[in-house]
Amino acid sequence: MKVGIIGYGNMGSSFARALSKVVEVVVYDVSEEKRERALRDGFGVAKGLEFLLEVSNWLLLSVKPKDALGLLSELKGMIGDRLLVSVVAGLSLSKMEELVGGAKLIRTMPNINALVGKATIAFTCGGGVSEEEKEKFIKLFSNCGSLYEIDESLMEAFTALAGSGPAFVFKFVHAMALAGVMEGFSYERARDIVLDTVLGSCELLKELGGNPEEWVVKVTSPGGTTIEGIGVLEERGFVGILMECIKRTSEKSKRLT
Ligand SMILES: NC(=O)c1ccc[n+]([C@@H]2O[C@H](COP(=O)([O-])OP(=O)(O)OC[C@H]3O[C@@H](n4cnc5c(N)ncnc54)[C@H](OP(=O)(O)O)[C@@H]3O)[C@@H](O)[C@H]2O)c1
Repeated sequence: MKVGIIGYGNMGSSFARALSKVVEVVVYDVSEEKRERALRDGFGVAKGLEFLLEVSNWLLLSVKPKDALGLLSELKGMIGDRLLVSVVAGLSLSKMEELVGGAKLIRTMPNINALVGKATIAFTCGGGVSEEEKEKFIKLFSNCGSLYEIDESLMEAFTALAGSGPAFVFKFVHAMALAGVMEGFSYERARDIVLDTVLGSCELLKELGGNPEEWVVKVTSPGGTTIEGIGVLEERGFVGILMECIKRTSEKSKRLT
């Protein structure tokens, strides 16, 4: 099994690294610098698209949205029986089908956590993908992170929650670290403390389950310290701000699609 990756940028190189643990990966990129980087990273590199197709069983499309349309038109009639997985934001299955003709397509939406093999990835299969191919996709791409099969109509909502989500998490970590500085820690020390707190809290929620709000109550002793902070979050509309943040991000994503 060989996966041909088109576009060796942030996403393409992250997926190449993760997928190469279980399958052979070949790369094609228009940029000579990226092709050289792929070679240095130990991947087979195709000089052109045709050669990449010749040697690949599956394809991963990982170019910017502005480059994807031309590329898909170029691929028209060339894909044959290969399965094409796209990570291109905002590119619908119907648009892809229109451009490449009747191909087996899977639309995905990963996030930047792919850089460390921990992406949160939504996917929707096109009509031509069999159950067996879907299972194979899940097995293979689980090496890149966690997978969520969703209805394509929820792709923009997922983009807001998980695609843009890391930026909101980074803002939260930064804000908490600044607060730590105000209380007397160095920025680096405060950031590490916050990171470990966030990681540990997420692991607790994953491992022990339950509604996050129940855990808030467990941390909050009557008349104690935490309730003082919770009071400020409630007063300033923390939940409402985040809900509005996701809503606006999702709306923008819908306008771009
Ligand atoms: N980065 C993220 O956090 C993220 C999250 C979710 C989804 N995505 C999606 O992932 C896709 C890739 O994003 P990225 O951040 O990895 O982009 P990137 O770093 O710009 O990588 C894209 C690569 O594809 C190359 N390329 C352009 N046209 C090509 C063509 N016709 N054939 C082969 N290679 C070509 C580009 O070369 P040049 O630079 O020379 O043009 C570049 O090296 C995008 O569609 C984006 O929507 C990204």
